[in-house]
Amino acid sequence: MHHFNYRDGELYCEEVPLQKIAEAAGTPTYVYSAATLTRHFQAFDESFRNLDHLTCFSVKALSNLAVLRLFANLGGGFDIVSGGELYRVEKAGGDTRKVVFSGVSKTEAELDYALSKDILMFNVESEGELELLNRVAAKAGKKARVALRINPDVDPKTHPHISTGLKSNKFGIEPEKARAIFRDFKRYASLELTGLDCHIGSQLLQMEPIMEVLSHLVELVVELREAGLVIKYLDLGGGLGISYNNEQPPLPAEYGREISAVAKETGCTLILEPGRVIVGNAGILLLKVVFLKETGAKRFVIADGGMNDLIRPALYGAYHEVLPVLEQAASKNNIVDLVGPICESADFLAKDRPFPMVKPGELLAVMSAGAYGFVMASNYNTQPLPAEVLVSGKEFHVVRTRQSYEHLLASERIPEFLLKDRG
Ligand code: LLP
Repeated sequence: MHHFNYRDGELYCEEVPLQKIAEAAGTPTYVYSAATLTRHFQAFDESFRNLDHLTCFSVKALSNLAVLRLFANLGGGFDIVSGGELYRVEKAGGDTRKVVFSGVSKTEAELDYALSKDILMFNVESEGELELLNRVAAKAGKKARVALRINPDVDPKTHPHISTGLKSNKFGIEPEKARAIFRDFKRYASLELTGLDCHIGSQLLQMEPIMEVLSHLVELVVELREAGLVIKYLDLGGGLGISYNNEQPPLPAEYGREISAVAKETGCTLILEPGRVIVGNAGILLLKVVFLKETGAKRFVIADGGMNDLIRPALYGAYHEVLPVLEQAASKNNIVDLVGPICESADFLAKDRPFPMVKPGELLAVMSAGAYGFVMASNYNTQPLPAEVLVSGKEFHVVRTRQSYEHLLASERIPEFLLKDRG
């Protein structure tokens, strides 16, 4: 469910026509619906109501300050993977004590920063990281709360680029190695073992691999408890998929019910790190058609945004539905590639797609672009980053202005020796 719907033949976000947003903010622009974000967060969180739990929104999926603030207002915690993301949470007014920190490459400075903000726990991914965190915590005269991220070697049955729980992946620690670390945990005088963590992949469409991982974790908690170690938190990561093109992922209610039933027996506080399921269908990318072009082989609809704004189709062959802002019947014979301005043949947002007969100047909405959309946008071809707009009822707010040319070049310098050589 989301709040992007046609009214009298025109596409709206909540109570606002997208046309109006394009006039005010230009294109390309990401548009998010506050009502959808709120509803998705609450539905997800509610599905774990029978269990002590914390929903930590995965900041990497959509990190705009306004969106983070919205989740903070709903009582959410945050899953971060960098010092930069922690800084965002702080600036958005989020509670840093509700932050879990994942990622394989945390630096000393990032660990120190997170420790100073008293985050809930570090999801540690290697022995090297344990050593470093122990040193950083000792230096700061603090104890760092730690969960070990387990790599369970379970196939999540998703795109290989977004699988993270196979032993060939760089993430987590193999169960046998984790057991050895647990046995010897006392050697880390400045660490407190508080949790077990796992995240096997993204866009998961079946419960089975999730439940398989959960049962491994539950077994491990029991085993550790018998060995006298207290495991307070069980972090199951994120990964629940959404429907981009008629996929049928488990509903949050089912996901919550099934996980809660099994996790309950551990007595642990459950931590969830959802990203896509909360924000994916709450955002669209608004584009304008610039040209139509026909070759002997193809028809192209050329828009003012492309892989620089939304890289998912180029990177994963991902499908995003594309709707004209002014409703019209998609002609079955009009098969097009929707492409952008970038000088790469991978620059497409839709391929061989039945498409309405649009004209230059018309607006298009690339649907389900809320997750891993803006956050993966780049300045390739020196294209400015798009604007972001948050809609709430009849109101809309530009929550990130479009990057200007000055902004784009602001951190670059020409060194003196080159300036002198000018004849
Ligand atoms: N927790 C951890 C440790 C993660 O690495 C991720 C995502 C999440 C939570 C949130 O997963 P979600 O609920 O959103 O599936 N760029 C790719 C997705 C990469 C996911 C990376 N990790 C895409 O566009 O499909």
